[in-house]
Amino acid sequence: MRIGPLTVKTPLFLSPLAGYTNLPFRLVIREVGGVGLCTTDLVNARSLLEKRAKAFKLIETNAADTPLAVQLFGSVPEEMRDAAIVLASRGVAAVDINMGCPVRKVVHVGGGSAMMTTLRKTAALVAGMVNAVKIPITAKMRLGWDADNLTAPDLARALEEVGVAAIFVHGRTREQGFRGTVNLAGIRQVVAAVKTIPVIGNGDVVTPQAAKKMLDETGCAGVSIGRGAFYNPWIFQQTQHFLTTGNLLPEASFAERIRVMCRHLDLMVAVFGEELGCRMFRKVAPWYARRFGPAGEFNKQVVTVSSRAQFHTILANYFQWRRQFLDATGELLPRFQSAPLQASFMCTPAEAAPQGAIPVPRGPVEVW
Ligand SMILES: Cc1cc2nc3c(=O)[nH]c(=O)nc-3n(C[C@H](O)[C@H](O)[C@H](O)COP(=O)(O)O)c2cc1C
Repeated sequence: MRIGPLTVKTPLFLSPLAGYTNLPFRLVIREVGGVGLCTTDLVNARSLLEKRAKAFKLIETNAADTPLAVQLFGSVPEEMRDAAIVLASRGVAAVDINMGCPVRKVVHVGGGSAMMTTLRKTAALVAGMVNAVKIPITAKMRLGWDADNLTAPDLARALEEVGVAAIFVHGRTREQGFRGTVNLAGIRQVVAAVKTIPVIGNGDVVTPQAAKKMLDETGCAGVSIGRGAFYNPWIFQQTQHFLTTGNLLPEASFAERIRVMCRHLDLMVAVFGEELGCRMFRKVAPWYARRFGPAGEFNKQVVTVSSRAQFHTILANYFQWRRQFLDATGELLPRFQSAPLQASFMCTPAEAAPQGAIPVPRGPVEVW
């Protein structure tokens, strides 16, 4: 599919997850396969212009990390424009604008969801960015501030008029946070509001079937996956296969999960150094462990990890401990297998997705 002048190989996108979608994770996702475009964590436009080390670490990339979009936030038109120019000059494939961030700090400075209440001002800011660079500018938003203010269709239309190349829309309102069901009809309204640009649906896609349902029921051109990718880095590959063949690939085996988790740690160490990389990995490893079956012992120890050698000792201990849950062939006994996740919009009203059905990871931004 195309995002303005950019062609992406699959209609599947990695959503920005502040604190998580760093270079190591993006490389893991790309190595597993199936993703069309990855986006960085959100980056403060002003910090980038002020050449702050933290902002530059967030946009750190390498030759294997393409195509890459950087997500910017900010509310000063000149800063957003100049930050887009900096990113374009560094070879970034696209710039995404954060319009759906429900974090008080971002809303307070006029960025994030507050943008949706001031359409004209926002369109002017975006026009300044679009006119300053050749790479596509995209926008990521929620459906609106609350159920009475579903502004996304109007905003999407206004942004298309000033040249935005694609819209990403999380099918919840700011007021909803991560509660309740993703509103597919709401996403469909955004699709209907634009003339030609692709709308990419987002929210709770945790299985290939959920991706297909979102595509089918909203008419969106692609889906963007956040937490589902953290939970299951194979989701892009599995979804791409399902969309093209109609068949489901088998779940990743335990051995494959361990292989990819270790690769993830190696990349964390390469990018952040051994001490920081291991410390950061303390919150990553439990996501892999969610599909290991019983993993209490692993999770308890991994929060202390501070070197690669220690991690491998923890892993060896865990393999020993986990043997009690295996059958004679080394497979996890069925009663210990983890239940699959289900997207809120795949549940019947009776089983209506309880709050937090898909875990919301804790990160530097606590209230996503
Ligand atoms: C820990 C965390 C961090 C997030 N950081 C960002 C961010 O930096 N920018 C953004 O636009 N959305 C951010 N989001 C929202 C996600 O991109 C996505 O829209 C949301 O999680 C719904 O998709 P999902 O159900 O596939 O996770 C974040 C979400 C979480 C849980």
